Amino acid sequence: MPRIITIAGNWKMNKTASESVDLAKPIIQALNNQNEVAVIVCPPFTALQAVSGLIENSSVRLGAQNVSDKASGAYTGEISAAMLRDLHVTHVILGHSERRAYYSETDAFINKKVLAALENNLKPILCVGETLDEREGNKTFDVIHTQIKGGLAGVTIAQAENLIIAYEPVWAIGTGKTATPALAQEVHAFIRKELSALLGESVAQKTRILYGGSMKPDNAAALLAEQDIDGGLIGGAALAAKDFLALVESGKAAAGKKA
Ligand code: 13P
Repeated sequence: MPRIITIAGNWKMNKTASESVDLAKPIIQALNNQNEVAVIVCPPFTALQAVSGLIENSSVRLGAQNVSDKASGAYTGEISAAMLRDLHVTHVILGHSERRAYYSETDAFINKKVLAALENNLKPILCVGETLDEREGNKTFDVIHTQIKGGLAGVTIAQAENLIIAYEPVWAIGTGKTATPALAQEVHAFIRKELSALLGESVAQKTRILYGGSMKPDNAAALLAEQDIDGGLIGGAALAAKDFLALVESGKAAAGKKA
């Protein structure tokens, strides 16, 4: 079974609830119930309810950009997995480099959220990736190893069925500098090897590994053609329906070729 190509949009801290509806509507209408490609949109928390109402009968899935590691209680400002599930959220982005860099999230903390998500039927999209300094210092594989091992500690083989990984080289995020397909493929293959060591070969072969970092309609086809690149986690290009839909089309074309 080939892994289903997955195109996920990370809207980051952009779009009010009404702007989110404007962005989501044409995407949902255009995609209707296609199921050649898995499509996930991840608006900010404040827009989840509004977008949730739109996707009710669609195959488009709803993701959040963070979740609390706690179940409920006195944790001011936090949002629990159960609250997200209640809004029909199915996925959650965790360990994004922006949260690691600006909000000091460690692998141990990210791991708690991964476990909280999995225990509550939310599918984590765990992001890993090296900075430019780390790449230039030949530390890429060490960094990825630590992030994968740390982020997935305690995850069972059964839970891993609901896991998605995203490789996002920090130097390629929002910079217009995309990793070359060959470079990205090398790291994706390494991640799959790490997954195999940690959770077994069957999990490794089933787990989708998305690429993120300046993925655009004009570079997506080449990236998605690589054997271990199973989709994209898109930032900037997910903020325009036309570009995002073009990326979904690239995903469909790649799916056809990989089938
Ligand atoms: P860009 O596509 O804007 O580079 O962002 C990638 C990203 O961080 C997705 O999570």
